[in-house]
Amino acid sequence: MKLGTLRHAIDHKPVAEDFTIIEAERPACSEDGLVVRVVHLSLDPYVGSRLRGRHMGEPAPTPMEGAIPGAVIGQVVESRASKFAEGDWVHVMEGGWQEFIAIPSAHARKIDPKVAPLAAHAGVLGMPGLTAWSGISQLAKVGNGDTVLVDAAAGPVGGTVGQIARIKGADRVVGIAGGPEKCSLVTETYGFDACIDYKAEGWRDRLADALPDGLSVFFENVSADMAMLALTHARTYARGVLCGLVDAYHTETQSQHPLNAGLIIGKRAQLFGLVVYDFYPRWDEYVAEAAPWIASGQLKFSEDRADGLENAPALFERLMNGQNKGKAVVTVSAEQV
Ligand SMILES: NC(=O)c1ccc[n+]([C@@H]2O[C@H](COP(=O)([O-])OP(=O)(O)OC[C@H]3O[C@@H](n4cnc5c(N)ncnc54)[C@H](OP(=O)(O)O)[C@@H]3O)[C@@H](O)[C@H]2O)c1
Repeated sequence: MKLGTLRHAIDHKPVAEDFTIIEAERPACSEDGLVVRVVHLSLDPYVGSRLRGRHMGEPAPTPMEGAIPGAVIGQVVESRASKFAEGDWVHVMEGGWQEFIAIPSAHARKIDPKVAPLAAHAGVLGMPGLTAWSGISQLAKVGNGDTVLVDAAAGPVGGTVGQIARIKGADRVVGIAGGPEKCSLVTETYGFDACIDYKAEGWRDRLADALPDGLSVFFENVSADMAMLALTHARTYARGVLCGLVDAYHTETQSQHPLNAGLIIGKRAQLFGLVVYDFYPRWDEYVAEAAPWIASGQLKFSEDRADGLENAPALFERLMNGQNKGKAVVTVSAEQV
């Protein structure tokens, strides 16, 4: 079977040439384990940090041997676990760039392929969607009267943040994204009230215009500088969810930005650090709530797709450079065999 690995150890932002696809033995099923045929592979920003040993203390894979980590959607082809049968569809966070994975059954979460298109379980119903729901409905507890600002708004986390905020009753939802094409996705497809292209001149003034009464909630995906800008527009008692600092993942020194404590005190702001791991036990609850929103068209999603493991490196490089438009997903094998 095919397996995607690192050509060599890296200490830089990954580029396509850092990866290679090799032939490897199909892994064997352990006791209480499963073998899963990988159908869709999720590419996520944290994996770029993990490949250089910068993510939550988790080790980088061994070059020319270990699979690149990544969440997968797949079908059980062998089960030695009583709770799973051949043919079950599963989502596995600790999956990887390979055609088949062998895992302890505790690592798999059963999914229903009928509630949404299968690849949606990698994005809007997957870890990015769960992250958005956790921050908006469980930490910031967005409701009627809220004005919400989110950056990286065209991505799977940001786009879902704004839409769930709206569903939960927010009055106004504003996004920040890079370029006109991403901004039109944010307003036309995701239905935000406004999207500010931060690559265009005068964008800070346009952001102020888009928030005439300030904001009550911001959701930070990009940097402490952006969070501080959001705070300048915050009403008193605003809430801020600190989710990601993608702009610092591959800088010389990692996320050392200062926070303006005076501004936080003056605004009596509440800031929440979010790590989605805390919400994994509530994944099924999220899917049960969000699947009907997808079915009714209230929650939209967009995907940047590649076909075949051999095309994963190029899409991964685009993700690292912020060039993905929507959720980066690689289809590794056909849904039906
Ligand atoms: N805390 C958690 O548990 C958790 C869980 C999941 C995700 N996250 C974080 O949530 C954020 C969004 O994740 P996502 O999967 O939805 O990603 P994404 O939006 O698909 O990709 C990241 C986006 O960030 C923007 N960006 C700004 N500066 C960048 C830079 N220097 N390099 C690359 N991209 C840059 C780009 O959009 P623009 O062109 O619009 O700027 C890019 O498309 C990330 O920070 C991620 O690490 C955190």
